[in-house]
Amino acid sequence: MKLLKEKIEREGRVLSENVLKVDSFLNHQIDPVLMQAIGEEFAARFKDAGITKILTIESSGIAPSMFAGLTLGVPVVFARKRKSLTLSDNLFSSKVHSFTKDVTNDISVSKDFLSNEDVVLIIDDFLANGQAALGLLDIVGQANAQTAGVGIVIEKGFQTGGSIIRERGVRVESLANIKSLVNGKVEFFEEEPT
Ligand code: G4P
Ligand code: NA
Ligand code: NA
Repeated sequence: MKLLKEKIEREGRVLSENVLKVDSFLNHQIDPVLMQAIGEEFAARFKDAGITKILTIESSGIAPSMFAGLTLGVPVVFARKRKSLTLSDNLFSSKVHSFTKDVTNDISVSKDFLSNEDVVLIIDDFLANGQAALGLLDIVGQANAQTAGVGIVIEKGFQTGGSIIRERGVRVESLANIKSLVNGKVEFFEEEPT
């Protein structure tokens, strides 16, 4: 997505060979105009998939998800992160380990908001090691719902998440796919890596 890549080139800051900071439009301050364009792009890519619900994870997945939900005319559910879960039999939950932060969070979604009649589009801001996406896929599975695919704003294609998710036969659509962050420079893949 050209608009997004240009924004990353202008405002993204390469913190290391592995981390891109995009606090000015996605992770802290949010650019609503760009988020709307991103939401519309996800909606266009999945328009024939029969989506009934968008599933994301707090907090940075919510903004792009809202605009995709608005365009597709479906609700947006966000998984909540908890250090430890108060026992509840009304929750689908999964463990998500962050290699970046070296913490494991339980993520959870109320059973009231996902069912076996749903066709789910999973959306998140970043795809790095894929653990958040795997947790969300696990939750969709527990609900016996269908997964239409995963929409990612920024994939770091040099990390393993994209291939882990695609190897499971899940459709992954990333709007910007980064090939490398070496030497302080953002280099994109032209197309989805296979
Ligand atoms: P994974 O789910 O792909 O395995 O990712 P990982 O554990 O490595 O990521 C942990 C957090 O860091 C996630 O946000 C993820 O979106 C974010 N993240 C990963 N790589 C980058 C990066 O290069 N740049 C930025 N800006 N973020 C990155 P989170 O902790 O869930 O936070 P939030 O959604 O509340 O923002
Ligand atoms: Na994040
Ligand atoms: Na995130």
